[in-house]
Amino acid sequence: MSKSHSVWVSRPLFPEVLAHLAQYVDLHAETVERKHTAAELREKLADVDGAIIGLSDRIDGEVVAGNRRLRVVSNLAVGYNNFDVPALTAAGILATNTPDVLNETTADYAWALLLAAARRVSSSERWLRAGNWRGNMRFDDWLGVDVHGKTMGILGMGRIGQAIARRAYGFGMPVLYHNRSRLPEAIERECRATWVEKPELLRRADHLMLVLPYNAQNHHAIGAAELALMKPTAVLVNIARGGIVDDAALAVALGEGRLAAAGLDVFEGEPSVHPALRELDNAVLSPHIASASADTRRAMAQLAADNLLAALGHGPDAGHPPSLLNPQVKGRA
Ligand code: DGY
Repeated sequence: MSKSHSVWVSRPLFPEVLAHLAQYVDLHAETVERKHTAAELREKLADVDGAIIGLSDRIDGEVVAGNRRLRVVSNLAVGYNNFDVPALTAAGILATNTPDVLNETTADYAWALLLAAARRVSSSERWLRAGNWRGNMRFDDWLGVDVHGKTMGILGMGRIGQAIARRAYGFGMPVLYHNRSRLPEAIERECRATWVEKPELLRRADHLMLVLPYNAQNHHAIGAAELALMKPTAVLVNIARGGIVDDAALAVALGEGRLAAAGLDVFEGEPSVHPALRELDNAVLSPHIASASADTRRAMAQLAADNLLAALGHGPDAGHPPSLLNPQVKGRA
């Protein structure tokens, strides 16, 4: 059957999701994982009605300039700092993302990083695997910092921040948070979380989770000055985006023992990682996998596909993409 819409998928995706898409649209899916240049993106997007886009591909005004056909770009992530949404809106192109389906999985991972960094899971494992555990270990070897009973700080209290906060109750941890706007009282109560100003959060938190969206205002939201306010026994966790933390300043603070440890899933300029961070035993580093459970990555891919199909007028949500970022765009006929 000939299909009226053509769609490009910028990165390899689960076969069942591709098969679902292929029921409705003519599909061109990449089979190799790589970042595309602006020129490649312009070319790929020139002849399609919609695209599913991976985080490493940047879709801005330049990439869609003069494109009269493209109707929707569907991001394969909740964070959409790789999209210039105002430029897409001006061009009349719908933009979507994948919120909510990853909240709990990402919150789990934030805790995994916190616990691993606080209790030296990665560094002690590296030491063991290297064959260093021969005689008796000293009673005061591998001392970490406690997590339970400490004060949890959360910077950025959206849905993932709230999922992190709800878990703190089980660890007996009071929660302080800072967000541009204070949450409704009912949510604060449910999360057992108290709003404080950012400097107070940095001073009082025993451990700090970063869950901010990345944008120009949040660039280096945690830099040398902010790190200087934190406790030397604190663990810093970044599961949000590279660029929110000044990685060079963080490496200095960790190296000088002005911070106990860090758990980092995202980096400035990833996949590059600041060389000083790679050298530090008190930094637990992972390759941007906070949402990477099998169920959640499938759910994200399915939601990205649903958004795209709906924007093109297919499927049960036809005309109403479930997670539209620019509802002011009417969409191209
Ligand atoms: C997101 O969805 O924004 C994550 O960072 C990608 O897994």
